[in-house]
Amino acid sequence: MPAPWTIGMFQTAGLMGTWQLPENRSTSFLELGHWLAMARSLDAAGVDFLFFADDYGYPLIDGALPAQAMRGGISFPRADPMAILPALAAVTERLGLVVTLSTTVEKPPMVARKLATLDHLTGGRIGWNIVTGAGQNASTRLFGEAMTPHDERYSIADDHVDLTLKLWEGSWDDDGLVVDREANLYADPERVREIHHRGSHFSADGILTTPPGPQRTPALFQAGASERGRELAAKYAEGVFIAAEVPAMRAQIADIRRRAAENGRDPEAVKCLIAGTIFVAETGAGAQELRRRTESVRSLADAAVQYAFFTGLDLSRMDPDRPLEASAALTETGRTNVERFLGPGAPTVRQILEEFQRNSVMGSPLIGDPREIADRAEAVMAETGADGFLVQPDAFGVFDSFVELVLPEFRRRGLVAPVPAADEPVLTLRERLGGGPHLDPAHPGAAHRVPSRVAIAT
Ligand SMILES: Cc1cc2nc3c(=O)[nH]c(=O)nc-3n(C[C@H](O)[C@H](O)[C@H](O)COP(=O)(O)O)c2cc1C
Repeated sequence: MPAPWTIGMFQTAGLMGTWQLPENRSTSFLELGHWLAMARSLDAAGVDFLFFADDYGYPLIDGALPAQAMRGGISFPRADPMAILPALAAVTERLGLVVTLSTTVEKPPMVARKLATLDHLTGGRIGWNIVTGAGQNASTRLFGEAMTPHDERYSIADDHVDLTLKLWEGSWDDDGLVVDREANLYADPERVREIHHRGSHFSADGILTTPPGPQRTPALFQAGASERGRELAAKYAEGVFIAAEVPAMRAQIADIRRRAAENGRDPEAVKCLIAGTIFVAETGAGAQELRRRTESVRSLADAAVQYAFFTGLDLSRMDPDRPLEASAALTETGRTNVERFLGPGAPTVRQILEEFQRNSVMGSPLIGDPREIADRAEAVMAETGADGFLVQPDAFGVFDSFVELVLPEFRRRGLVAPVPAADEPVLTLRERLGGGPHLDPAHPGAAHRVPSRVAIAT
């Protein structure tokens, strides 16, 4: 029997769906109750995890946030998901919580300490989405830094993750934390040690002061399908988010799995999740109506601003009847959404804008009643070889329509696991993804693990 699909849900700590619709709830993103209600509902529905994308950047055109982005609420404004997560941990029992921290912005010991702490607080339900950053042009301005070139950001990411893994895997033995009051022994000095790192971009000598959580290294995710992005995913990621049309998705998944095997990893251990939009209603006509209402409020000017956020390129200044210049591929901001529109049969700038107006960075949505959605989802899974879905919020910024209409149909067909019974043990996020409690021995992070004293003795 094939493994059940992994189901994750996509959010940012900002506006989601079509905020202009009166039913949209994401305008409450600064209210704690909004997030608590969402997390409780997903936990009760047996969803595997809730993911918060994040970025310090925002759309930048001519060196400033365009008025259109403020009016339209496009990749702006945004709160900090790290501040929201502990509250969600407190009201959920099984739901995985995945968060983005950028390797360009945050230093390795900061990432290691924050996520190790959250791994404890969540009982091992935390995941890290490793990104080099989409809105990097605005982010560097904000931090008063010079723009780091695109490929160098990926070299930094590689070194960053290597060091961060060393901190998680190498600082503490499993039995380093003793807490023996009679022996007056809190942590065993022989079982806690400094790690040493001399990498291409980072150097470190020291200890991660936070003891290892249930997963030790949080479940590792990656998003972004540029060449360098796929390389990073194949080396480190245990879960990958992929957004594209079906043929491109199939090619990207095959490429990531091939590269994972080249790295000595089990290709099937990299769970590839389709990031997709779903318009669902009780009837197909209702779903089409939702789609129509969503499209009616998104303008081409909005699309241009959103494209600028992901790529740093201003399509509104380019000849609408020609494809992108090949030099666009050299943008120093994000490349995934440039590379996808280059090559044979490349669309014109006008067509790219229209595509972004309809679907933004996602592939074509699934539209229909619950059975039509499940039929199409099964076909897409078979065509791509993916392992599950990262579901975009619905037009109202939440997941109610997915939870109420689609999940029951998926379950009826045996495609996703049943909601766990109350007496079933709580799994860590890595276990929910099909892995063991800790990093697979073939993962490069496992090499930083100090063999336990028992293992040395035998
Ligand atoms: C589902 C999904 C989620 C993503 N989440 C983030 C995110 O949280 N932060 C971010 O900077 N980029 C995110 N990205 C990736 C960006 O789109 C972008 O590809 C990347 O950060 C820039 O690198 P690139 O040059 O490899 O495209 C996400 C992509 C997808 C498909």
